[in-house]
Amino acid sequence: MPACFERKGRNLEIIDKVEVLKQALNSARKEGKSIGFVPTMGALHQGHMDLVSRASTECDLVVVSVFVNPTQFNNSADLKHYPRTPEADAELLKKFGCDLAFFPSNTEIYPENWVSPRVDLDGLDLVMEGKFRPGHFKGVVEVVSRLFEIVEPDKAFFGLKDFQQVAVIKKMVEELNLPLEIVACETSRTEKGLAMSSRNKRLSESQKEEALIIFRTLSQAKVDAGKFSPKETTARAIENFETGSLKLEYLTIVNPDTLQELTDNWVPGATMCIACFCGEVRLIDNLTLIPNS
Ligand code: PAF
Repeated sequence: MPACFERKGRNLEIIDKVEVLKQALNSARKEGKSIGFVPTMGALHQGHMDLVSRASTECDLVVVSVFVNPTQFNNSADLKHYPRTPEADAELLKKFGCDLAFFPSNTEIYPENWVSPRVDLDGLDLVMEGKFRPGHFKGVVEVVSRLFEIVEPDKAFFGLKDFQQVAVIKKMVEELNLPLEIVACETSRTEKGLAMSSRNKRLSESQKEEALIIFRTLSQAKVDAGKFSPKETTARAIENFETGSLKLEYLTIVNPDTLQELTDNWVPGATMCIACFCGEVRLIDNLTLIPNS
């Protein structure tokens, strides 16, 4: 994972209309430039900048979208409290080498005539986040497919903190036969291990300390995975997690391809996924316990 670095000497262009963005992208394509895309919901942090840095090492032109997509929130309070910091976002994007920043309105993303694609996600959307946030992945598929239709990137970059989202988007790309590469990037963490998330902006300093139980639980599970079955590792992790003050929503070890829970046997890439509440703030995280073969 490349460290986040500042890329000076680039001019950030801020665009809010689909047609203007398409024109800029068409000109870049005519010059033979490859296009890297980082979709975000704003409240940008170092994790996003790591994605932008990675995109800028692999592509000639970097586009970042900032759009809080209402259709992926199943809870209106969550949507209302989702942090929105457009000025600070634009500053960061300027500093870290984004070329085109796209801040669309709802009607630009969802024009009246737009029809959301139907995609068979083969059950990837029904477990974990899908179970606790019904309709969430329908909204993610809706917005990401629309953004891909607008940007037509060569590569799109997503953080693995949203492990299930990456699996869902890869499946969507396969099902819709889209000509682009999904680049899954390692989760960016604070020095103490807290996964970077826009939602962390809503945590107090003491809550940030309390939330470290998440990474401690995941790290201990990685050690346990060498000695115990998935079922035993899960039970030990739940016990470990409950020594802290956070409220667990789910903790499970899944097959990375099917996202089905593992109980008796390990598979390469087996990943522990957690969702929990720290006060009012819902956090998710995950760690691969068994190396990919
Ligand atoms: O991961 C996110 O921030 C969002 O789910 C995404 C991919 C930008 C779609 O709104």
